[in-house]
Amino acid sequence: MRAVELIQKKRDGGRLSREELEFLILGYVRGEIPDYQMAAWAMAVYFQGMEAEEITDLTLLMAESGDTLDLSPIRGRKVDKHSTGGVADTTTLVLAPLVASVGVPVAKMSGRGLGHTGGTVDKLESIPGFRTDLTPQEFIDQVNEVGVSVVGQTGELAPADKLLYALRDVTATVESIPLIASSIMSKKIAAGADGFVLDVKVGKGAFMKEEAQAVQLAKAMVQIGTLAGRSTVALVTDMNQPLGRRIGNALEVKEAILTLHGQGPENLTELCLQLGTEMLLLAGAAASPREGRAKLEHSLRSGLALEKFKEWVQAQGGNPQVAEDVGLLPQARFQADLKAPQSGYIQGIDPLALGMAALHLGAGRETKDSTIDLAVGLELWVSEGDYVQEGAVLARIHANDEGLLAQGLQEAARAFHLGKDRPAVRPLVYRKITAQDV
Ligand code: URA
Repeated sequence: MRAVELIQKKRDGGRLSREELEFLILGYVRGEIPDYQMAAWAMAVYFQGMEAEEITDLTLLMAESGDTLDLSPIRGRKVDKHSTGGVADTTTLVLAPLVASVGVPVAKMSGRGLGHTGGTVDKLESIPGFRTDLTPQEFIDQVNEVGVSVVGQTGELAPADKLLYALRDVTATVESIPLIASSIMSKKIAAGADGFVLDVKVGKGAFMKEEAQAVQLAKAMVQIGTLAGRSTVALVTDMNQPLGRRIGNALEVKEAILTLHGQGPENLTELCLQLGTEMLLLAGAAASPREGRAKLEHSLRSGLALEKFKEWVQAQGGNPQVAEDVGLLPQARFQADLKAPQSGYIQGIDPLALGMAALHLGAGRETKDSTIDLAVGLELWVSEGDYVQEGAVLARIHANDEGLLAQGLQEAARAFHLGKDRPAVRPLVYRKITAQDV
């Protein structure tokens, strides 16, 4: 086999077999195929696309290119949730204990934040004492004992994807649905779950700006999961405004705790219930959406989910008292309020602008090696559609540096759009994509 012939085949719209993809992908990981040939293949894929089986072969090859997690020692069906990345999206911190509290095991590997989107591992590390570096055995034992564990990535999952993503980043080949879908799913499959609930974000603060693109991505991922033998569903959800009301690591932990107390923002709570219902259905813990939702609502109302959160935090070395006293979380030294410059309806809150403001305050990473400040960020006091009087507080900025505080106020101000007309209400969930839809 010769790489140039495979590139030519893809360039001309052909379909590569598993053996041909294996030659390219594993050859690339071993350093036998040079960057320029992989880049040419990625560009050919960008223009010609890939067939469903071909994308699945690529995904599985990437998933098997490094370490894979064996979750079979954990009793029950393990269903993972993945979000393509949003702002003020702390669903994992709510969902993990919520779903575990109704008896569905949650064994999750999460990432760190990069750019304007946050990462669950960083958020968890703002809980005093919390360890995200459990050994694989500790991780598995904890899920069997407590029902839930969330850890950072151990070992090297899908190294082929890591190499290919870095190459795509500098060769204008990131924006290809087959390559994005296989990239995400390869890491998920390597992490070992039996099923996946995917939250594909669409809008100003998301990777996918248009609904049609997001639906295409959701369909591609559901198809890969299904062909790979994992039950998979996707919800396409709104990211034209921040999901919750807090952005920043410790602030998002606070938001998750408030939500588990039944005092969370409406959209965040609703999305957790909808994603959680899908997880219960895939895990076989509910026979209908109505039954799944009722179980989760009961768990939230009765405090069972909050109790599970405390057990989980304690099991990972964290201080469970944070669940009753959010003042134990890291606090920034300086706060300032952003006030409405005029009366009117909040017509829009740009999630990307707020995500960037939080990043510049120090809550996120500009590059993979940046250090972050767990305490800083923003709290929103209003949502889209609210009417505010001039001078009302729109947001509170938390910073550890007075210069950054002033900058944060200016940046956050640019995210709010006020006007005299009440804006139209957008759905929170646009579409559900199941295996039948692809
Ligand atoms: N996120 C990923 O993990 N991979 C992509 O290709 C794009 C976004």
